[in-house]
Amino acid sequence: MTANEPRFHLPGMLIGGEWTPTGENGQAEVRAPYDGALVARVPAGGPRDVDRAVRAAAEALRRDDFPRSDRVRVLEQTAAALNDRRDHFARAIALESAKPLKTARVEAARAVETFAFAAAEARTFTGDVVPMDATPPGAHKTGFTLRVPVGVVAAISPFNFPLNLVAHKVAPAIAAGCPVVLKPASQTPVSALLLAELLDGLGVPAGWINVVTGGGGTVGDALATHDDVAYVTFTGSAEVGWAMAAKAPRKKVRLELGSNSPLIVDSPSDWQTAASKVSMAGFAHAGQSCISTQRVYVHRGIAGGFLDELLPRVEDLRLGDPMDEHTDVSCLITRDDTARMKEWVNEAVAGGAKLLTGGEAIDHGVFRPTVLEGPPAGTRVQCEEIFGPIITVTRYDDFDEALQMADESRYGLQAGVFTTDLGKALKAARSLHFGGVLINDVPTSRADQQPYGGVRDSGNTREGPAYAIQEMTETRLITLQP
Ligand code: SIN
Repeated sequence: MTANEPRFHLPGMLIGGEWTPTGENGQAEVRAPYDGALVARVPAGGPRDVDRAVRAAAEALRRDDFPRSDRVRVLEQTAAALNDRRDHFARAIALESAKPLKTARVEAARAVETFAFAAAEARTFTGDVVPMDATPPGAHKTGFTLRVPVGVVAAISPFNFPLNLVAHKVAPAIAAGCPVVLKPASQTPVSALLLAELLDGLGVPAGWINVVTGGGGTVGDALATHDDVAYVTFTGSAEVGWAMAAKAPRKKVRLELGSNSPLIVDSPSDWQTAASKVSMAGFAHAGQSCISTQRVYVHRGIAGGFLDELLPRVEDLRLGDPMDEHTDVSCLITRDDTARMKEWVNEAVAGGAKLLTGGEAIDHGVFRPTVLEGPPAGTRVQCEEIFGPIITVTRYDDFDEALQMADESRYGLQAGVFTTDLGKALKAARSLHFGGVLINDVPTSRADQQPYGGVRDSGNTREGPAYAIQEMTETRLITLQP
């Protein structure tokens, strides 16, 4: 293979059932973040491509030619086909996003589950019978509700899970009966296009799945503000997400955004297990997950033992090429992000934090897994989302104080608490303002059928096929009067 030969040959982007090799801005190269290898050439779309795609989706909705039984079949067959091609998808994920191959395999397996749960829900979701005659105005009436598709769905997905976070938007939309226009992250469109090829090959009628690649914010904005889009599902940064919601005030804009996830490790608890889990949960995909474990609060009585358990594990993580079977942590998505890590560590250390391990970049934009102890509350490693391989450790004396520190955040996606005290577990469940409070687990844990989403700046939705289908359908009341 020559240096100019892409690893993946893709037919282009999919609009109205046609594959288009170029967008209105020509083509863009997708380069591997680790070594710059050419992964693929994809169309560089723009607002006119978005307009064509949305019109095709609106036309598909009018034609109404994708009945529920066909949608169930497509979802089930997609799950099976993804399962068969897991390794192929994992390689695409690893190349385009620098997610280490073994973690990319987990993502591909999770996408199978996401489609399987959407298929199961598509078979069974239904409305309600309404007891109209329970009050005088409803006398003699029969009432029931239908769950009807909300309309055209604009799906804007991030680079960090280039397959499974696309699956979390596309699979529920298919189940709900909503045509989709997908804009995958500009850095990682390859897995999304492979998925679109697979869906197209399974006989999804024209216009139900459209993909517009390239263009970054221009394409995203054109899509989110298009008059014929009813529903926007966006995963990405809080800044971009909330700005998008402000630009489309009359649409349902559903946001799944970032966080600076806290974990409390109390005493008594199984803190050895906590340390072992943190050594993965803070550094998987170089910390580039919205629920990466970031702020760890450890009871002072066990903090020494916890760190003795944690630090060698962190130092043992294998760094390097994402395509190497043994790599645990590879590079960040851009070199600017690697430089930002150094800046944020320096700020914390200048403020009085102790650098326990890591703190520097090595080759290819890989940043060493980093543990900082005791950063002041106002530093960026503590109050912003790092989205990199850095965790902070703060000692505490009193559980209520730990709850208060963990909750002091503008974000609220998931929080974890290790404790063997049921009373404390219940108190944490009640008092932590997060979309999920996970007891005896790290906040980084997600099963694809669970409701997943945040409060505060972390968003306004719950993903997970059953929950997303609920959001992508409207309740329509039907009453029958004899
Ligand atoms: C995210 O980064 O929000 C997704 C995390 C996951 O699905 O594990």
